[in-house]
Amino acid sequence: MGESGKGAGRAVLITGCSTGIGRTVAQGLRDRGYRVLATARKRSDVASLIGEGFEAARLDLSDEASIQEGVAWALEACDGALYGLFNNGAYGQPGALEDLPVAALRAQFESNVFGTYEVTRLVLPAMRERGAGRIIQNSSVLGFIAMKYRGAYVASKYALEGLSDALRLELDGSGIQVVLIEPGPIRSMFRKNALAAFQRHVDAESSRYHKEGYAKQLARRMEEGQETAFTLPPEAVLKRVIWGLEKRRPKVRYPVCAPTYVFAWFKRVLPQRWLDFMLKRF
Ligand SMILES: NC(=O)c1ccc[n+]([C@@H]2O[C@H](COP(=O)([O-])OP(=O)(O)OC[C@H]3O[C@@H](n4cnc5c(N)ncnc54)[C@H](OP(=O)(O)O)[C@@H]3O)[C@@H](O)[C@H]2O)c1
Repeated sequence: MGESGKGAGRAVLITGCSTGIGRTVAQGLRDRGYRVLATARKRSDVASLIGEGFEAARLDLSDEASIQEGVAWALEACDGALYGLFNNGAYGQPGALEDLPVAALRAQFESNVFGTYEVTRLVLPAMRERGAGRIIQNSSVLGFIAMKYRGAYVASKYALEGLSDALRLELDGSGIQVVLIEPGPIRSMFRKNALAAFQRHVDAESSRYHKEGYAKQLARRMEEGQETAFTLPPEAVLKRVIWGLEKRRPKVRYPVCAPTYVFAWFKRVLPQRWLDFMLKRF
């Protein structure tokens, strides 16, 4: 509670507060004096958030009616005075692109892109009215570089980056800032949830990628929940969310974790073929 008061009661809507980064950011912002309007996909998680004293409601990014109800609840709760939106809820759909049915790609875009886009669109009128607001997008290092077997997730985060870049230009002069956070590996339920999505959509046994790709790298890493030497706790993202909300002129992009800084630099200076050479081995 050390820095309580900095949020000054400002209302912030957060998606995906059941676990991981969303849960940590909800807690961290509340401790800082923000009025946190926490949402989660499952009713049981909403109940546990309420049990912890949060103002909480259901918001499933892949369900349009739920998005409308969740945002209406948030706007009503703060009487339209919504200062911040942290677009956090998302999941990873792993699998080689050859193995992924289009339904898997659609589902990935439904929550990570379309649902997130709709939440943003619905809160903008209230922010415009007040001439102030912060839209904080939880993107990824995979929002600007690609990796094997992560094509669906990569495409969804590239799309989020593109939408955010265009939105920033359109909102110029409105008092609303758009901030992208680009985490590398963060400790959360992400890998466990990704494994479930993989098993739901990919017939790994009969895939040409089974031996070399899935068994050796992807599934093993997800199953073991392996952490890299660079994995950081979700508080690393919380720190950037606070910068995005509180700095008078926040940066457009906040990288998180060493690999994100390194890849951002490689992306700027290396020819694409050289970058591919490295990424193929990563
Ligand atoms: N962990 C990392 O290494 C990492 C790295 C870069 C970026 N990120 C990004 O960080 C964000 C949070 O992920 P995390 O690491 O905290 O993973 P996590 O622990 O799996 O949390 C993801 C959250 O998103 C929610 N979610 C998924 N689909 C949803 C939907 N359709 N509607 C509403 N909520 C939905 C999950 O709800 P359920 O519990 O109901 O599934 C959960 O609350 C994501 O945007 C992710 O892309 C994570």
